[in-house]
Amino acid sequence: MFKIEEFDIKLDTDYIGRNFIYSDEVESTNAMLLGGKDSNQNGTVFLAEFQSKGRGRKEREWISSSGQNLTFSILLKGEFKEQKINLVNLCSAIAVAQSLENLYQFNVELKWPNDVLVHKKKIAGILLESVSKGNKISRVVVGIGINVNQPNFPGQFDILPTSVRKESHSLASREKLLSEVLNNFEQLLDISKKSGKKVLTLWRNRCKMIGEKVKIVDGDKIKIGIFDDIDENGFLVLRTGDKSEKIHYGDVSLR
Ligand code: ATP
Ligand code: BTN
Repeated sequence: MFKIEEFDIKLDTDYIGRNFIYSDEVESTNAMLLGGKDSNQNGTVFLAEFQSKGRGRKEREWISSSGQNLTFSILLKGEFKEQKINLVNLCSAIAVAQSLENLYQFNVELKWPNDVLVHKKKIAGILLESVSKGNKISRVVVGIGINVNQPNFPGQFDILPTSVRKESHSLASREKLLSEVLNNFEQLLDISKKSGKKVLTLWRNRCKMIGEKVKIVDGDKIKIGIFDDIDENGFLVLRTGDKSEKIHYGDVSLR
């Protein structure tokens, strides 16, 4: 059982997580907040012990055993420009990384656009989804899955999963970790409003792939090049020969 009081004591935010919804089981916490039936309050956090249809990108599945991990979504309301959403995306990955570093001293690596790895294994995944009205984005839902106390991950995965428990060899407090992630996330959103550059630097510092040869998979098409950098909007800058092109995260996978 997730102990809400324990989480609440450590929460040090103005708006993120101040409206908190807890559920035993839903299809997907992202779907719950995207629909808008359950809450319209900016910063609402929806946590479920189990998701029967937890999702990743492109209809892939997020598989997480009941009651052991963190599967939650954060609602952000307002009018967002596309670039702003990319920054929110980077902020969420940095927030998870900082939290794992602060609480467990892990050496965390970020894989573009927002996988969180420890020892090259995936400890957390993030999925941003949004709702548009006309040509404006009106709500953004940041969905985060963190493997906390799950001891093993049966099945087939492109990147091997791991959990806090597997890496630290002890059980971790989900309440402490969730409050830490939300505290860091709100701070990073504040920083991103003042200086997008700072967020890019925090992200770059944790990405070990910059400067390396990478493969971009876009359906049947494959592009190979050097991961030069991320630009001011969080796009990947891919260098092939003397050409550079910008890759948007919505469409591709980095391998
Ligand atoms: P990309 O690199 O393009 O982001 P991805 O495979 O890392 O691709 P998604 O496209 O969002 O990420 O798909 C979800 C992926 O996460 C699937 O590949 C799935 O196998 C994997 N996965 C599902 N559940 C877990 C989990 N609990 N821990 C780690 N990985 C998981
Ligand atoms: C990824 O695989 O990289 C993204 C996975 C995102 C999983 C989280 S769990 C909470 C939220 N609800 C969902 O259905 N997906 C996200």
